[in-house]
Amino acid sequence: MVKTQKEIDKIRTACRICKSILIELGEMVKEGITTYDIEKKAEELFKKNSVSPAFENYRGYPAILCVSVNEEVVHGIPSKKKVLKEGDIVSIDIGVIYDGYYGDCADTFPVGKVKDVHRNMIDVARKSFKECLYVAIPGKKTGDIGATIENFVKQNKFSVVREFAGHGIGKELHEYPEIPNFGENGTGEILRENMVIAIEPMIIEHSSPVKILKDGWTVVTKNGSFSAHYENCILIKKEAPEILTE
Ligand code: MF3
Ligand code: CO
Repeated sequence: MVKTQKEIDKIRTACRICKSILIELGEMVKEGITTYDIEKKAEELFKKNSVSPAFENYRGYPAILCVSVNEEVVHGIPSKKKVLKEGDIVSIDIGVIYDGYYGDCADTFPVGKVKDVHRNMIDVARKSFKECLYVAIPGKKTGDIGATIENFVKQNKFSVVREFAGHGIGKELHEYPEIPNFGENGTGEILRENMVIAIEPMIIEHSSPVKILKDGWTVVTKNGSFSAHYENCILIKKEAPEILTE
């Protein structure tokens, strides 16, 4: 799980490119476009940056991006039929491969004017990640990250999705350790210097289990609650982590 300096440099490049594409795609989110338009733009940006898609064909996943709208939590498949409208919240999740190494990040974007509670939820997802930076240091454990996310989200009156988690990343998209979005302090795998992990809180308005749609991928809340997703890869360092997808 601990990476060499050479590996870290490649993961860092993968992550930088990943984030720059995410930012560009986030800027195009507006009323009237389809989630497939975002996928098409991603295809172009992947080519331009000479990276290959990490998600496409991963366990048979049929697209480059995951674009998850409103009650869709993660793994939404881009579609020409999915037209964005004012008030929607859209999570875009991107994975790239650069020279054999992976980068992975996600963020949630509002379409025009959205409900205050949804804007707030997006903010809480992002801030719950930032809270983790205090405990993502050598000697702490993966459960410290999970507990930090869960507690912060609960304090802000939202709920975490428990069925999915963050992960180690490097030569593979999903490596050990698993990084849960809930849990107990002092439990789980020990964090060590030069580990690279993706922390990805998925949070919802009202607590709910999730289900998978007939397409075999799209994860939605059973109660229809909207969902926000935020993901960054970080490098564990002595004093404080480096956000690689910054
Ligand atoms: N960011 C997600 C993850 O880390 C995306 C995986 S989507 C898949 O798990 F299509 F590749 F499965
Ligand atoms: Co991920």
